[in-house]
Amino acid sequence: EQIEKGGYNHFMLKEIYEQPDAILDTFRGRLLINDAVIKLAGVEDNMKKFLAADRIIVVACGTSWHAGLVSEYIFEDLARIPVEVEYASEFRYRNPVITEKDVVIAISQSGETADTLAAIKLAKSRGAFVFGVCNVVGSSIARETDAGAYTHAGPEIGVASTKAFTTQITVLTLMALRLARAKGTISSSEFRHHLIELETIPDKVKEALESDSYVQTIANIYKDATNFLYLGRGFNFPVALEGALKLKEISYIHAEGYPAAEMKHGPIALIDEQMPVVVIATKKGHYEKVVSNIQEIKSRKGKIIGIVTKGDKNVRELADHVIEVPESLECLTPLLTTIPLQLLSYHIAVMLGKNVDQPRNLAKSVTVE
Ligand code: AGP
Repeated sequence: EQIEKGGYNHFMLKEIYEQPDAILDTFRGRLLINDAVIKLAGVEDNMKKFLAADRIIVVACGTSWHAGLVSEYIFEDLARIPVEVEYASEFRYRNPVITEKDVVIAISQSGETADTLAAIKLAKSRGAFVFGVCNVVGSSIARETDAGAYTHAGPEIGVASTKAFTTQITVLTLMALRLARAKGTISSSEFRHHLIELETIPDKVKEALESDSYVQTIANIYKDATNFLYLGRGFNFPVALEGALKLKEISYIHAEGYPAAEMKHGPIALIDEQMPVVVIATKKGHYEKVVSNIQEIKSRKGKIIGIVTKGDKNVRELADHVIEVPESLECLTPLLTTIPLQLLSYHIAVMLGKNVDQPRNLAKSVTVE
């Protein structure tokens, strides 16, 4: 097992560090930068279905559901296709309205999640076209779906999903860009620009990983906190949910993720000097609004850990700590802001002596209801 961990203390840390290569593997043969082309066989072969779709329904659980939420922002922004993101466990029992004009995207690392599999069967029985985004080749979900695209993240052993999440977002971004081009919702120059930016992501993830030792320092300061709040907006709202889930799963610290602007509708009551608040406040998007959310947290004495764009000055003045990530297109920032959140939960769990790779009560894939 020590050999399989490749010199890392835990599979989770190894998998966090594998992300630059995993994303490159996800690109391979699909992101053809010189020709300014994206090739995804499962999408090409079914382009008519995608172009005729009234909407996309994403079904997934846990971290895969968070990747689905990120994709909602990306598909709607780039390809102008309405997207609904559903917990597979709710969808399957809700008697949902599904038609032949719906495209259902099922996202699953393992490809064995019982609820997701049941949601696929239901959608198929009602005539929808079902596309799978799976990591495990030949898994039940990969077999059950009409078509799909593998994430090619390689085996993920740690129960807490890391590289599966970022590669899922990568595949979904490629899909959104391909569909945007086919639908003409982005110009060829915008498309090319997105491809060029996407290609820089593996190196930028590497750069984001350089925050590791500073994240460790922050983990040491807050490891005994009993609650954490994670806030983000837009593309980074689902990243806040994912950051909170990672912390809960492996450190057993209660954490909640919220869209930053929802804070004043309730969670703000929780904020006092005991409450660490992780705020994703990258430039562009809703930056100014998030900065004003940070001011509200500060005036209530919350401890602020800002995830910011490299060189940021405003948040640095207000926050107790800032972790920088490289600048990127707004829609690609989840691939970068996720990294310090994974590291934060990892280091806190290690410092608390928890079983990082096999947290209590959790299984790598939930194959029963
Ligand atoms: C992620 O860290 C979790 N262990 C869990 O939420 C997981 O993402 C979920 O069970 C879905 O699994 P799947 O991607 O294999 O379908």
